[in-house]
Amino acid sequence: MNARRPAIIITFGSLMLTIWYVNFPPNLQRQCEDCGTETASPIPSNAVEPNQYTFKDLDKLLCSREVEPSNETMRPCPKHGIATMIPGGRTGNQMWEYSAIWFVAKETGRQPYIPTCVKLALEGIFEGMSLPSLQAIGHCPFDQSSSVDSMEQLVLPHQSIIVPAFSFERRLAIPHLDEVVREFKFKKPLRDKAQEDLREIAADLLPSATPTFIGVHVRRGDYGAFLKRKWNATMVTATFFRKSMNYYRAKFSNCLFIYISDDPLWCFQHFGNLSDVFVTSLNSRRTPAEDLALMAACNHTIFDYGTFGEWGSILAGGLAIFNNRDQNINPHLPNWIIME
Ligand SMILES: *[C@@H]1O[C@H](CO)[C@@H](O)[C@H](O)[C@H]1NC(C)=O
Ligand SMILES: *[C@@H]1O[C@H](CO)[C@@H](O)[C@H](O)[C@H]1NC(C)=O
Ligand SMILES: *[C@@H]1O[C@H](CO)[C@@H](O)[C@H](O)[C@H]1NC(C)=O
Ligand SMILES: *[C@@H]1O[C@H](CO)[C@@H](O)[C@H](O)[C@H]1NC(C)=O
Repeated sequence: MNARRPAIIITFGSLMLTIWYVNFPPNLQRQCEDCGTETASPIPSNAVEPNQYTFKDLDKLLCSREVEPSNETMRPCPKHGIATMIPGGRTGNQMWEYSAIWFVAKETGRQPYIPTCVKLALEGIFEGMSLPSLQAIGHCPFDQSSSVDSMEQLVLPHQSIIVPAFSFERRLAIPHLDEVVREFKFKKPLRDKAQEDLREIAADLLPSATPTFIGVHVRRGDYGAFLKRKWNATMVTATFFRKSMNYYRAKFSNCLFIYISDDPLWCFQHFGNLSDVFVTSLNSRRTPAEDLALMAACNHTIFDYGTFGEWGSILAGGLAIFNNRDQNINPHLPNWIIME
């Protein structure tokens, strides 16, 4: 469900002509102290010359379309450069994009702004996210020639950083992961549905005990082609899930494995006869948001690879067993166990 369609990497080369190699001013390395806390002030109506490039234009470029107006609170124009990212992919990638912008802003003292299309997508799932979208400063002029695409290139305070799509190294976000996780609070209906789903599954499979819920994310579909292309690797087989389930069965009592997958039939064919397995989406349609909330509500997780499984595991917060075929963020996370 998290297809990485080919990166729509817009070449910002032409925007990056002006890079001045002077000594890195120490004030650029300060922490972003006012991230997300700046209050709105009156916006001068004549802030922009006619035909001047604005953050609204940048937003449209990043999102590859005109984005519908949202309820974003307008903010004063940034005095210095900002941090944002070129979007790509679906929920799991969008969550990493939000994290990348958070991280880069903290590291560089830039104000973080999320492309509006990404913020709107995440707002369908989470409530109370603190980072503003680019719409908050859409009325402000944006100097295209001042943007760079890596932190190393930031030299002057007015420079903005636009992180290229899919290029963020996820392990970099780990020191800030606790803060970012607090941004991803599921909306109440999603939280309630996840608990209701778990109650129903437990009542069905294990009515007389307190279960240990293990969320299992099985990423198949087009991922095989991606693994082949990117890592010359093949998808994991049923053995990976069998070994992972045995690990948990030996460690915890009353395990219930809740399979969440873009290929529920494959899961059912391999594990559907086990009395401690429930395969979701077999007879009902579920949204990715419901799936993520369900995985996050579990006590521990198993996932093969992919950003959706990563986030389900991060939000669940317990142990996670995973396979490292797509070279993801392990071994930097505690409580994550690699299984071949
Ligand atoms: C903006 O707020 C109004 C009123 O609170 C609400 O009806 C509308 O759905 C919101 N729009 C978006 C895009 O969130
Ligand atoms: C890809 O993997 C196969 C099987 O492991 C191996 O035979 C082949 O040499 C690999 N190709 C490349 C380009 O590494
Ligand atoms: C479930 O099916 C698999 C083959 O798909 C078989 O190896 C296994 O013994 C079966 N388990 C039970 C509990 O029936
Ligand atoms: C396991 O998850 C369930 C469902 O979210 C929760 O009610 C329960 O408290 C968790 N158990 C432990 C030991 O954390």
